[in-house]
Amino acid sequence: MMNETRILGIETSCDETAAAVVENGHHILSSEVASQAKTHAKFGGVFPEVASRLHIETIYPIVSTALSAAHVGLNSLDAIAVTRGPGLSGSLVVGMNMAKGLAIASGLPLLGINHIEAHLYSIWLVEDQDEPEFPLLSLVVSGGHTELILMKDHLSYERLGGSLDDAAGEAFDKIARLLGLAYPGGPAIQETAEGGDPQAYKFPRAWLPGTWDFSFSGLKTAVLREVRKHQPDLKAAVEAPRPGLPIADLAASFQAAVNDVLVGKTLSAAEHFSAKDIVVAGGVSANRNLRKAFLAQSKIPVHTPPIELCTDNAAMIASVGHQRFLSGQRDALDIDVLPTWPINSTLS
Ligand code: KG4
Ligand code: ZN
Repeated sequence: MMNETRILGIETSCDETAAAVVENGHHILSSEVASQAKTHAKFGGVFPEVASRLHIETIYPIVSTALSAAHVGLNSLDAIAVTRGPGLSGSLVVGMNMAKGLAIASGLPLLGINHIEAHLYSIWLVEDQDEPEFPLLSLVVSGGHTELILMKDHLSYERLGGSLDDAAGEAFDKIARLLGLAYPGGPAIQETAEGGDPQAYKFPRAWLPGTWDFSFSGLKTAVLREVRKHQPDLKAAVEAPRPGLPIADLAASFQAAVNDVLVGKTLSAAEHFSAKDIVVAGGVSANRNLRKAFLAQSKIPVHTPPIELCTDNAAMIASVGHQRFLSGQRDALDIDVLPTWPINSTLS
């Protein structure tokens, strides 16, 4: 009984305004997500100023909808968990201020949560699957992060490596734009790649041996070079059609190059550290081809969140909130946001 909690989660680190109520760290009572993707599509990526303005407009309705959909009032909650970082500072501040206001009004504890850690905890929201076993090798792949993390226990993280340049999702978004596809690029590349040949182009894979790091800049340049062969005077106009460009083959070959390295390095890290299970989370973990490749190649169980929990949401924030509430974390009401906050510096 002592471990029973009901946590309100709030997330505004990038371009989703989200609020959720989660019971005992795994049972979702409500999860509301308002995506700004359509607005940012006009710019071909997230426009920070616009993002924070839209969060301000949306945060109150989203939080009150999450509470009413869960049929709970503030008085039946145990804590308010909010993304403290990493993310866009102007966006993070909106969620943080909302959380602080609610904490002051209700007297509930405030818990600042690391967004990368929260992506990992999206796995604990899956009720009908076995819980992952430690030591756990986890890959967080999103628009902002490509991180390999060893988890020896709950709330314990050893960051093994990450992208030296673009995050995997960012690479998907940039290549989609180059191919004239809409933002967010991941789903667009995935759909376009369905009709293409993944071996049509032999794009480079940066294995960076001896490290657990990733790099996608060489791959990006190689795709650009290929595109220029077809369209020498290409301007990176957003969503403009690209007549004559074999976008299906390019998308499929690009996707295969990214996913080969993500799968290959994660599986060798899992073997090296004798992991019992693998977790793949974050927006890019929604990629069908990536999920298939992991399942086909891994000898140990691979856990991925359901699609709606791969991209940013607040249920995952509340799920970490549960663990941190039980571990005794209580944050002061004057904590600041941390736009760059490495996962291995979070306190356990
Ligand atoms: O986790 P997320 O919602 O936000 C961040 O924390 O960054 O991830 C968004 C990223 C975007 O770059 C988007 O293109 C990518 O996840 N993404 C995908 C897919 N769905 C979303 N990438 C590849 N395949 C997908 N199906
Ligand atoms: Zn995210």
